[in-house]
Amino acid sequence: MSKYDKSPFNYIGGKYKMLPQLIPLFPDNINKMLDMFAGGGDVFANVTAAEIYANDINFFLIDIFRAFQAIEITELLGEIDKIIDTRELSMTNKESYLKFRSHYNAIPIAQRNPIELYVLMCYSFNYQFRFNSSHEFNNPFGRERSSFNPQMKENLIKFHKKLNGINFSSQDFSQLDYSFFEAGDFVYADPPYRITTGSYNDGKRGFKGWSREDDIRLFAILDELSERGVKFALSNVVEHKGQTNTELAEWMRSYNVHAINYDYNNSNYQAQNIDCVTREVLITNYERNITDGDENIWLDSKPGLRRFR
Ligand SMILES: C[S@@+](CC[C@H](N)C(=O)[O-])C[C@H]1O[C@@H](n2cnc3c(N)ncnc32)[C@H](O)[C@@H]1O
Repeated sequence: MSKYDKSPFNYIGGKYKMLPQLIPLFPDNINKMLDMFAGGGDVFANVTAAEIYANDINFFLIDIFRAFQAIEITELLGEIDKIIDTRELSMTNKESYLKFRSHYNAIPIAQRNPIELYVLMCYSFNYQFRFNSSHEFNNPFGRERSSFNPQMKENLIKFHKKLNGINFSSQDFSQLDYSFFEAGDFVYADPPYRITTGSYNDGKRGFKGWSREDDIRLFAILDELSERGVKFALSNVVEHKGQTNTELAEWMRSYNVHAINYDYNNSNYQAQNIDCVTREVLITNYERNITDGDENIWLDSKPGLRRFR
């Protein structure tokens, strides 16, 4: 039993499994919190703060959060059931899934129903949230695997309670207004990771990709926030399969670096090979002492990778 709530998205790149390592490293007594790259919402839904702001460039995702926020949970569950019934969705009916997907994509973007998109995603392969360049949802059917199952429903009910009062936005991170963040506030950044980029975690999914320039822009914003006394934490990967994000490695030397234990290669028998090592980190501009009582924070971390400063 985790003390953290899982978002009802199963979002690729979602931080749910890492929350027991991340959340204890976040500051106490947060006034305003910004989740700059909110994704499926695993992080903002598990942070305590006076005010929460959540942003993601993927406006389809943000539209779903807003649509969930706007209605009572019983109404939302009723609407989801109605869509499943009328569209005859199941774990085996590929034809109905494809018909429903075509129906959704045929509607002009501004008139699409975000709750329909949520249901579509629930029956799609690996619950991926993927679009083509014309902003058509293009994830294939999740035969025998994906559905709006009881676990998803339970996650949705818990998540829905957390949406109350959250301020959502959908902008490129470099366009956000950071001027009203001040000392006492906290910004969490979980951008796409440049060196682990692949079809599953490119951060793109129908939107713009992530480049070296984006990393540099992000570091500059975090530096500026830090100078103004705003606390930040940045999740990222410094090394992956023999590659190093050199700009990140250099930039993080000015801050505190905490090793995060996540084995991307747990199904790979060659995980001991140096070429397969993934070094995931949380970089903070504040000190955080983890006591023995905190959950598994350094479990299996290799000595020497714990802290790099
Ligand atoms: C690693 S995922 C975040 C996962 C999230 N922390 C979670 O727990 O689900 C990165 C997110 O960044 C978003 N993104 C990519 N480029 C962006 C940009 N330029 N500005 C804002 N968001 C962006 C992607 O849509 C994706 O949802």
